[in-house]
Amino acid sequence: MPSTYWTLGCGLLFKYMNTERIDQIIDRYKGEASSLIQVLLEIQSENRWLPKLALERVSEKLQIPLTRTMHIASFYKAFSLVPKGRHEVHICMGTACHVRGSKRVLETVEDLTGIKAGETDVEMKFSLETVNCLGCCALGPVMEINGKTHGNISVSETKAVLNSYE
Ligand code: FES
Repeated sequence: MPSTYWTLGCGLLFKYMNTERIDQIIDRYKGEASSLIQVLLEIQSENRWLPKLALERVSEKLQIPLTRTMHIASFYKAFSLVPKGRHEVHICMGTACHVRGSKRVLETVEDLTGIKAGETDVEMKFSLETVNCLGCCALGPVMEINGKTHGNISVSETKAVLNSYE
């Protein structure tokens, strides 16, 4: 079994990768300290966040001080130290998207998911974040889900796109 599931007091069900699976990932890189970021990216990609126990295991196996591993894990935006939903929604609130109605898109997502930016719903389905630019300003307003860009998106399209995710 690659992962186990834990429930927080607030009802959040989150995924916790077991040590065996973490070791498999580390072993693929032959336990080389220089593979730290790559190892963390793989754990993040599979587990959707980096639990402290995983960081401790990586540090131990790669013989890197835990403080350095924690620093890397908290420095890069690609990593999360808190549980994330199955689908990561990013709404661009940059100027180009703002003038084209990104606020309405954000409000629609908030209404449909019941969460605000920076939060994850209790079913661990969606995590919502706002960003300042996704690098495709001509497509504004822009919503990105799991790395897929939805440009020139209207309120009704926002609802349809969100509803298409299981
Ligand atoms: S301002 Fe939204 S993509 Fe650049």
